[in-house]
Amino acid sequence: MSDTIKTIGVLTSGGDAPGMNAAIRAVVRKAIQNGVAVKGIKRGYQGLLAEEIVDMNKSSVSDTIQKGGTILGTARCSEFVTEEGQAKGAEICRKHGIDGIVVIGGDGSYRGALALSKQGINTVGIPGTIDLDIACTDYTIGFDTAINTAMQAIDKVRDTSSSHERCSIIEVMGRNAGYIALWCGVANGAEDILIPEKYDYNEQNIINNIIQNRKKGKKHHIIINAEGIGHSTSMARRIEAATGIETRATILGYMQRGGSPTCKDRFYASIMGAYAADILCEGKTNRVVGYRNGDFTDFDIDEALAMTKDIPEYEFMVSRQLSQ
Ligand code: ADP
Ligand code: F6P
Repeated sequence: MSDTIKTIGVLTSGGDAPGMNAAIRAVVRKAIQNGVAVKGIKRGYQGLLAEEIVDMNKSSVSDTIQKGGTILGTARCSEFVTEEGQAKGAEICRKHGIDGIVVIGGDGSYRGALALSKQGINTVGIPGTIDLDIACTDYTIGFDTAINTAMQAIDKVRDTSSSHERCSIIEVMGRNAGYIALWCGVANGAEDILIPEKYDYNEQNIINNIIQNRKKGKKHHIIINAEGIGHSTSMARRIEAATGIETRATILGYMQRGGSPTCKDRFYASIMGAYAADILCEGKTNRVVGYRNGDFTDFDIDEALAMTKDIPEYEFMVSRQLSQ
C-alpha cells in the first residue's frame, strides 16, 4: 500500500446501473481493510462540486448489495466538463483530504476521471452501465440485470402479440450500442433484430419478412429495435400500413435500469470494486478496471478511451440465421 494514500472517495456518475451498490460496498470494505478511510461523494461530479461528501464505514454499505440503483445517487454535470469545474473539483478533494477517487460509470464519467487525474487527484474507473458499450472490457456492471429484465418483459409482450396475431416492435435501451437488442433478440427468439451497428434502414426487408412469416402461419412477429435506431412508433404505423397487420410499439424505457441486480452483476461489481480499491490504495492513478478474456485487469484511462469494439460478426450472423 502507498504511504501517501490515506483517504479515498467513491462516486457513481452517468446513468445508474444495477450492481453499482455492490461495487460501492466492495470499494468501501476493501479500502478500509487496506487501512484507508473512505468518503462517499453523492450525486456524481455534481455532488463533488457541491461538496456533498460523507464519511463511510463498513456498516454504511450494509444491506445494500441486493438493491438496484445507487445509494450515492448519480447525476450528469455539465460544469464538470469545463476546466474550471475540474480544477474546482480537485480543490474540493484536497480540502476534504481525498487523495484518490473511484468513479463508477461509463465512458463519459471516465473522461471526468481523466481530467481529475490531470489535476493531481488519483483516479480509478469501474465500468458501470447497462449498455455494455465500454471497449476495454468484456463486461459492464448492470448489463446482465438489464437484459434479464428486458427479456422477461419481451416474453410478456409476445404472449399478447400471439393472442391478437399482431406484430410488435419492442424498443430496448443501449444508447448507440446494440448489445441489449442483440442479446434479447436472440434470447427472445425475435423475428427481426435491429441494431445501430448493422441496420441498413431498408424497412421493405422487414415488411417482406412479416408477410412471409404470416404465410408460414406464424401468429406473431417480434421486432427488437435498439434505442440507437429508435422511432418505433412511426415504424409501427408504416409497417401496419404496408402489411395490413396490426402493429404496436412498446418502448421498455427505464424499467431496464432498475431492479435487484442478478448474481452475475453482484459478483463482477464486487470483484471490480475490490480491485479498484486495491490499485488506488497502492497509489496507481488514471486507471480503469476491466474484465478481458477471463481475467480482471486494468488499463490507462487514455488507452481505454481510445479502444473501440464492435458487435461480434459471428454472433450477429447467428442471430439472423436463427430468426428465420
Ligand atoms: P456515462 O458515464 O454513463 O457515459 P455521461 O456521458 O453522461 O455518462 O457522463 C457522465 C458525466 O461525466 C457527465 O455528466 C460529466 O459530468 C462527466 N463528463 C462527461 N464527459 C466529460 C468530459 N469530456 N470531461 C469531463 N467530464 C466529463
Ligand atoms: O447509459 C445508460 C442509458 O440508460 C442508455 O441506455 C440511455 O440511452 C441513457 O442511459 C438514458 O439516459 P437518461 O437517464 O439521461 O435519460
